Amino acid sequence: MAKTEQVCVLGSTGSIGENTLDVISRQLDRYSVFAISANKNLKKLYSQCQKFRPQFAIINNSDAAQKLSTQLAQSNVATEVLSGQQALTQIAANADVDTVMAGIVGSAGLPSTLAAIDAGKKVLVANKEPIVMAGQFMLDRARKSGAKVLPVDSEHNAIMQCLPDDYCAVNNNKVTGIKRIYLTGSGGPLRTLPLEQFDAVTPEQACAHPNWVMGPKISVDSATMMNKALELIEACVLFGQDQSNIEIVIHPQSIIHSMVAFIDGSIVAQLGTADMRIPIASALAWPDRIESGAADLDFLQLSALEFEQPDYDRYPSLNLVRDVIEAGGTAPAIMNAANEVAVDAFLQKRIKFSQIVDLVEKSLDKSDIDNDIDLESVIAVDQQTRVLTSQLIH
Ligand SMILES: NC(=O)c1ccc[n+]([C@@H]2O[C@H](COP(=O)([O-])OP(=O)(O)OC[C@H]3O[C@@H](n4cnc5c(N)ncnc54)[C@H](OP(=O)(O)O)[C@@H]3O)[C@@H](O)[C@H]2O)c1
Repeated sequence: MAKTEQVCVLGSTGSIGENTLDVISRQLDRYSVFAISANKNLKKLYSQCQKFRPQFAIINNSDAAQKLSTQLAQSNVATEVLSGQQALTQIAANADVDTVMAGIVGSAGLPSTLAAIDAGKKVLVANKEPIVMAGQFMLDRARKSGAKVLPVDSEHNAIMQCLPDDYCAVNNNKVTGIKRIYLTGSGGPLRTLPLEQFDAVTPEQACAHPNWVMGPKISVDSATMMNKALELIEACVLFGQDQSNIEIVIHPQSIIHSMVAFIDGSIVAQLGTADMRIPIASALAWPDRIESGAADLDFLQLSALEFEQPDYDRYPSLNLVRDVIEAGGTAPAIMNAANEVAVDAFLQKRIKFSQIVDLVEKSLDKSDIDNDIDLESVIAVDQQTRVLTSQLIH
């Protein structure tokens, strides 16, 4: 029997993680689950261990790891349970792993994604925050190690699908003939809500995305369109583009997931239902194609495909990000960290929705931007900004 590709699914209990396991479950002749991980969702991790029988399961807290280990032994599941952040980096770099799905949310995913890159793995990047913070470093390290970095974010995966088959983020300078990239976004759940009601938006409202089912942090980011702001930075890095070459377009139906215009006048778009299993399957098998389980797009059932310019009063994050890219250096890491802290405070109902981007802007104003950076300084800035933004909240 041919050897299956060994996949480590980091953040397996989240939205990306569950979708990844669903795609893998349809391709068990091709992929095996080597390891899975959670922050604290022991119950879901246990049931995933029962179903996929990975060699390793990682959970952050050591008491939870002990409990899981006992439960698995009682169920005759031989999965070894590890705990702590270091276990994530060790397993991501394990010699038996071929592919790592980076599905942890926020900057917490940086060390494990980097460990997978340094170990020369095929790294499927859903976790956009580390790319925003330190994307160039990660690609430089991938060039050294020979790692493949493939985007899972639906827009970036769509852009990859519009490019030649030998595209790889690490070699982005080889992609020629691009005139412009159109980064599409639905506008999120608050696209038509009167602006004067923004102060009263609840976490439930902000998380009720009209087209996508996602984890809470990215759902709030979609409502502020900070998600698109982070994606703009991600696209500049992954596709070697200047920000002036990337246009953000509101496309409420989420059918076109992004487009690339070439210098000969052709525009190539990727279309599909709003189902993350499509980009996950695409990145997993790239440049091959595998079944994802997603429903087919029925053109005859489609309403119009609409496109609008973003409303910059509604989405101040989209202006802010242009300045952040211009500033460069540590500015993207500051923006990202401040946003993570502010979103968390909003989800805990400690601040209003309209304060999120305000806090990010204030944190940027109060920070010195360092242009001479390395990975360590980016990580230090991430920590400093978290303290600063938390102080601004109190
Ligand atoms: N969801 C989407 O459709 C989508 C689309 C494009 C990109 N992305 C990106 O993919 C990433 C994951 O998003 P998601 O929506 O899947 O998030 P999610 O549903 O909140 O899941 C996050 C996962 O990360 C784990 N986790 C959280 N904090 C952690 C920490 N400090 N250390 C280790 N593990 C931790 C969680 O464990 P617990 O379950 O135990 O909390 C969970 O497994 C994000 O960066 C997001 O921007 C998501």
